[in-house]
Amino acid sequence: MSKFIIEGGRPLNGHVRPSGNKNEALPALAACLLTDQPVTLKRMPKIGDVLTLCSILEALGATVEWLDDETVTINAKNVKPIAPPLELCAKVRASILLLGPLLARFRKATIPRPGGDVIGARRIDTHWEGIIALGGRLELDGQINGTAPSLQGAEIFMDEPSVTGTENLVMMAVLCKGTTIIHNAACEPHVVGVCNLLIAMGAQISGVGSNRLQIQGVESLNGAQHEIGPDFMEVGGYLCLAAMTKGKITVEDAGVKDFRFILRSLARIGIAPHIEGNSFVCDGTKEIEIQSDISGRTPTIYSGPWPAFPTDLMSVAIVAATQSAGTVIFFEKMFEGRMFFTDKLISMAATIILCDPHRVVVSGPSKLRGIRMSSPDIRAGMALVMAALAADGKSEIDHIFQIERGYYQIDRKLRSLGAQIEKV
Ligand code: EPU
Repeated sequence: MSKFIIEGGRPLNGHVRPSGNKNEALPALAACLLTDQPVTLKRMPKIGDVLTLCSILEALGATVEWLDDETVTINAKNVKPIAPPLELCAKVRASILLLGPLLARFRKATIPRPGGDVIGARRIDTHWEGIIALGGRLELDGQINGTAPSLQGAEIFMDEPSVTGTENLVMMAVLCKGTTIIHNAACEPHVVGVCNLLIAMGAQISGVGSNRLQIQGVESLNGAQHEIGPDFMEVGGYLCLAAMTKGKITVEDAGVKDFRFILRSLARIGIAPHIEGNSFVCDGTKEIEIQSDISGRTPTIYSGPWPAFPTDLMSVAIVAATQSAGTVIFFEKMFEGRMFFTDKLISMAATIILCDPHRVVVSGPSKLRGIRMSSPDIRAGMALVMAALAADGKSEIDHIFQIERGYYQIDRKLRSLGAQIEKV
């Protein structure tokens, strides 16, 4: 099994371009099932989860052709709504995203229960209720069996702004008869990206970027070209790394317009990059300091649905806070397993109190020291790499397939910034 060996304590400097956003790439691949014409997706990150979903599409009968390292064409002309292999679906939560497109195009779908991260319980009720509202019939007996005798637009009030739930329902609604209105829709940049891909394929969607989407169904969709947006989780990681290693990193083609709230939260831990065009420049050569509330109280950084601070950036922000002077509370409302990786930071000499599964208190700065550790999930894995890069001495991180599920050639990109990281 591969691992990273990292010799920390060096400033990271230079320019880097983030890959495409995994959480847009996965639904975009699922959307290709909606048409019998080829769809070309650019800035596609060739990461573990994407390759797994590509294999699932191939198992259904699609052709997957990589034109270069980040451009892929999917042709779903010969796809049949058969059950995809269980062992592939067990690897990615995103296999649930096949349900909407398959029901919309073939009126039939069989999907094994989705797999994915170990960070907490993930309900699928929002997908379920919405699909039934659009005319689907679903049964759960180890796998999900679906049919859609009628495909009828509907007014849907989602009980929570689920990201993949919204994507699934939009992908189904685009081929339903009549109008669908989705209230309380998720509006993350990746949801916007998927809607824009569908519009390029001929779908009629308004309200994109808001929490009320209106979809006018069409008869069929055509092929299209679409570019996946930059991965804001990767961007956030580089900004924190510049500050943590006291280097200077320019993140190019970074999608800066989506960062307003993220920048507010990073500013609370003392990280304040400046914007040049569509790039961020983060000069970390000055000491960083936690910014307390106006009343002088300990600040809290909490995650929430967009535009609030994304849960997927929590682990990265926690590790950055270990290098900032002062005390800050992190409150992760969604996942009950996302904070447990902090025991590894504590072993590296960070001062952290795990209050309960949802809250940690971090006091910094702490001089971290390298240790051997294991990557529990994608985001915590990246946070551990960052901790190791800021620490004195050598760290070994195994289970790095967890990191490679979400970050493309992260070791190569970090080496280009001066990091001493080897994959063995
Ligand atoms: N929610 C919160 N707090 C948050 C974020 C979300 O309470 O900080 C709520 C959401 O509003 C929603 C519920 O939690 O009501 C469930 O989440 P959701 O259904 O949106 O999760 P998901 O669609 O299963 C996607 C991403 C996850 C990401 C979540 C939340 C994909 C393939 N997965 O999951 O990505 O954490 O949305 O943004 O898009 C990851 O990339 O590491 C990852 C786990």
